[in-house]
This record gives sequence, C-alpha cells and structure tokens, in this order.
Amino acid sequence: MTTKPQTQSRSAEVLRKQKEFLWPAVFNYYKEPLVTDRASMQHVWDLDGKQYLDFFGGILTVSVGHCNPKVTGPIKQQVDRLQHTSTIYPNEQIVALAEKIASITPGELTQSFFTNSGTEADETAILLARMATGNFDEVALRHAYSGGSQLAKSVTAHAAWRKSAVISVGIAHAINPYCYRCPLGLTYPDCEVRCANDVENLIQTGTSGAIAAFIAEPIQGVGGFITPPPEYFKIVFKVVKKYGGLFISDEVQTGFGRTGKKWFGIEQWEVTPDIITCAKGIANGTPMGATVTRPDVAAQLKGLTLSTFGGNPVACTAALSTIQVMEEENLLENTATMGAYFRSKLEELQQKHALIGDVRGMGLMQGLELVKDRATKEPAPEATAQVMDRAKENGLLIGKGGLYGNVLRLSPMLNIGKADVDEAVRILDKSFSEVRA
Ligand SMILES: Cc1ncc(COP(=O)(O)O)c(C=O)c1O
Repeated sequence: MTTKPQTQSRSAEVLRKQKEFLWPAVFNYYKEPLVTDRASMQHVWDLDGKQYLDFFGGILTVSVGHCNPKVTGPIKQQVDRLQHTSTIYPNEQIVALAEKIASITPGELTQSFFTNSGTEADETAILLARMATGNFDEVALRHAYSGGSQLAKSVTAHAAWRKSAVISVGIAHAINPYCYRCPLGLTYPDCEVRCANDVENLIQTGTSGAIAAFIAEPIQGVGGFITPPPEYFKIVFKVVKKYGGLFISDEVQTGFGRTGKKWFGIEQWEVTPDIITCAKGIANGTPMGATVTRPDVAAQLKGLTLSTFGGNPVACTAALSTIQVMEEENLLENTATMGAYFRSKLEELQQKHALIGDVRGMGLMQGLELVKDRATKEPAPEATAQVMDRAKENGLLIGKGGLYGNVLRLSPMLNIGKADVDEAVRILDKSFSEVRA
C-alpha cells in the first residue's frame, strides 16, 4: 500500500518560514496566526481561501477599504510616472498633499514634514518642539504609545513596549484620564477632572519647570481606546501654555476622520494644538508619516534635515486619493452615523455579556474593556484572547489593546454600512457566547 505524501497547507509553510527567517519579536495575533492573502474593501481572505470581515483595518490604517480602486488606481499611474526622487527635488504630488492637509487641519497648521511612520512623525515633533522653545522636558501620559524608536519608546508608557534601550531622560509621564480605572479613585463628573491637575504638579516637580511640549493621543489607542472626559484637554492646554510648552496632538490613530465629523481627534475636545502628528489612516495603508505645524514653529527646525522616502510621490498620491475619497463620499458624516449605531449595538451587547465592563470610544474607534467581575473590575485578558480567536473562527477580525491586554479594539473602515455593523455585532455576540471560563 502506498501512503500519500503529507501536503502542508500554504499557511503552514508561511508560518514555518516566518519562524525561521523573521525575528521572534515580530508577534502575531491568534493561537493559529492568520496568513493573509488578499483583500477587497471591508473583506480580507486568508491563504486558504477563508473570508473575514475586517473590523481592525490593519491597526486603524485602512480607512477607505482594502485595495480601494479609487486609491490603488492613482497609485498605479504614479508608480509608472515618477516613483521616487527624494525631497531634494520638489514634485507636484508632495505640494498637492501638503496644500490639502493645510486646508483640513485646525488653526494655522499649514506646513507639513513628511516621513514614513508614526514613530518618525512623533520624533520630528519632539525634536522641533525642543528647538522651537529652547526647552528640553516633555510631558507625556501614562498608557501612551508612541512607536518603536528609542525616543518613541520613552514616550510610550506600557512596560511591555519599553523593554531595554529606553532613554527616558527629559520625558515625564502624568497620570492619564482613564475614567473606568481612575488613577485617583474618583468618579466623573464629581471628580472635577482632577487628573488634569497632575500635569501641572508633574511640571513643577518632575521637570525643570519649563517644558518643550506636552504630547498625547486625543483617545489613547494602544492603551485601549481610553477616552478622556470632554474638559480634560482644555484644562491641560492652559497648563502647557503656562509652562512654555507646545501642545502636540498624536493623531496617528485618531486622525483623518476616525472619530467622526472632524478630521482630527483633538478637534473633538475643542483644543487647537501647535503640532499634529499623523500616520496609519492618512494613506490607506501606504507608508506615510506627517508632522504638521504653524509656519512660525516649522521655521525653528534648524540645521540640515531630510527624509529619503518621506513625501515620496507614490505615498503622497495615496494620501491625497484617500482624503479625496473621504471628501467625495462624505465619510466624516458616515463615521459619526455608523459609529453611533455601532456604539448603541455594543451597549446592547454589554447588557447581555457580563464580561464587558466598559464600552468607550468615539466614531469608528470603539473599545470594549473585558473584566472577570464588574464590581472588582479584575481584567480578563484570557477571555479577551478567546473572544478574539472565536471572532476570527466566526469570520471577523478585531484588535486588542490595553495595559492588561483586556480591551477589544473595533475600528472598521470609515465607509462601512449598516449591514457590516450588524454582521460584526452578530459575530461578536456569538463569539462572546462561546467563551469558556
Ligand atoms: C498613537 C500612535 N503613535 C505613534 C505610533 C507609531 O506609529 P508607527 O508604527 O507607524 O511607527 C502608533 C502606532 O501604533 C500609534 O498608535
């Protein structure tokens, strides 16, 4: 009798090679990692042909649909026309994108510096703030995430993301406005947003007393979509100004319409920042970072600087096309409407599943914090991993975050419809029901 040779699935072969040739620090989601093959608008297919509804968008990056032809079409044309020159030669694409960004940013933020990632965008903002103010100290928030370079890691405030190589000199962390787990043990609104006072106390005690900048995410992303009370940033802004600092809004996750109605998350809190940093959703998946500020601040970046790939004509075309789709299809409105609908459905799920301790977020950036017990609020990271795995098995991709790994992050594309939300909620409901203690 002849035995058939064992055929390995294509996914298994990719996973084997990943293990052999990539650094082990490159972690994957899921017990059985999902090997992606292709994608179209709100759907992704794995290498074995299974279809998924994507409610994470490659970490809040695919804003207007996977491989949206309104973005990939112009990219393809640009690749064949002019792919790369570097910023030593101006081109039509970089100035068109910068002009467009200037027209949608709040206040006088009209000048852009392009890079390739959120990490670089934040690095550039901090460097600029130090040069512009002549001060060195930066204030960031606990539970922040800023990226993978040494400086970005030192702004980041999660132990797991700060292993080794973190130079924290000149970075001080204030407590964050985490109402569900208030660091001061208070309850909003009786607390009178006392957490905001910590920024002033920290400047007085943990810095030289004059700061270069305060940097924060309008809604903390990796931190688990921690959403501040509406007054928080207004109070902090005044403190930052009192101590000579610039206000940097890290819009890597909240930017480009994600929170609904407004282009930038900080606009929801009625604060006009001095610098905005962007990446992820700006170009629908093409690598791009941008640091945007006022001309008087931009003028303070002294010395020579360049970014070889920053403002690459293909990336600029991708970003410009993404913004155009958002405008043409009125996606800031759709995000607000679908976000409100999704939120109401998630609150219904909270009524049904005791695991869901908190529902928070804004627009199409919604988080569920899972707890073992609603009274003690003990985090439930194992159940969170189970819901993620079950959701994947049931055909839905979602993300995870939070200091304790117990927050589900839900961030679909901004052009989703009601049917997509209903399907996602149906799968979430089923997946919660399948969690085993
Ligand atoms: C708020 C925020 N800032 C900065 C970064 C770093 O961006 P990148 O991974 O593109 O370097 C991230 C990445 O998740 C982020 O969420």
